[in-house]
Amino acid sequence: METLTPGRLEEIAAVFAAHHDTGRVIAALVAGSGITLAVPGWTEAAEVSYQAIFPFPHHPLAGHTPSLTLLRKGPLGLLVFNGRFHLYQGYSAAEVAAIPRLAGLLGAPLYVLTNAAGALDPSLRPGDLVVIEDHLNLQGVNALVGEWALWRQPRFPDMTKAYDPTLRRWALAGAREAGFTAQQGVYAGVLGPSFETPAEVRMLRALGGTVVGMSTVQEVIAARHMGMRVLGLSLVTNLAAGLSDTQLTHEEVMEVGAIARPRLAALLRQLVARLEEEINH
Ligand code: HPA
Repeated sequence: METLTPGRLEEIAAVFAAHHDTGRVIAALVAGSGITLAVPGWTEAAEVSYQAIFPFPHHPLAGHTPSLTLLRKGPLGLLVFNGRFHLYQGYSAAEVAAIPRLAGLLGAPLYVLTNAAGALDPSLRPGDLVVIEDHLNLQGVNALVGEWALWRQPRFPDMTKAYDPTLRRWALAGAREAGFTAQQGVYAGVLGPSFETPAEVRMLRALGGTVVGMSTVQEVIAARHMGMRVLGLSLVTNLAAGLSDTQLTHEEVMEVGAIARPRLAALLRQLVARLEEEINH
């Protein structure tokens, strides 16, 4: 198996675009653990497994259906990434970042990601949605290390407004319109796959984290480097270790993902409608 290089990724995007008429891509949506994203009113034009797209060894994970769905509505296209690559599965940072980079190469101006996360803020409850306003990269790697940094300018990208303020406002308003409240917060990205110890949870809270998860930050770094605007939504699946008496399990994360699906679906529907409106005016 080959290693992923910028040139190879450009070829992958060219092959995908040659086989699938993406239309004008308005956004890429990424579904995290236990989350399924449906966008009513859009037609499925193609579904391609990640294995068929990405030429590196795959490490499948229960609960993920790893495939890219192309949705179309008239001249517009939406890329829905069902599942992601995680560092804890053994993927490199460049492989983890292949999803946002492919999205960018296919013309997506927006990268909208969802993830499952544990609450560091004890006022949060399972099923709550947090609009990510900033992150802590505690994964010990960076998706831009090496030749990737030179692939796009600037080599040292600014991360001051990594999570787009306008998109965050839209998401908060969308949640209100859908009948629930979402708060903003800081996503602490850790490597995993073990959950945190209670001491680590206290540390992450002290560092300013609102939620903790094992994904997202590499993708956001790569997406910003590609010039995409980013929106990140964390679905709280559990209170982080030490904040409740229950033991943490991957199954719990999956179950809450299923329960909160309608909220997330409502929010994304509104967001996509808003994007369409913006494009049509
Ligand atoms: N910690 C880290 N990642 C997670 C958690 C957690 O508690 N819940 C879901 N993803």
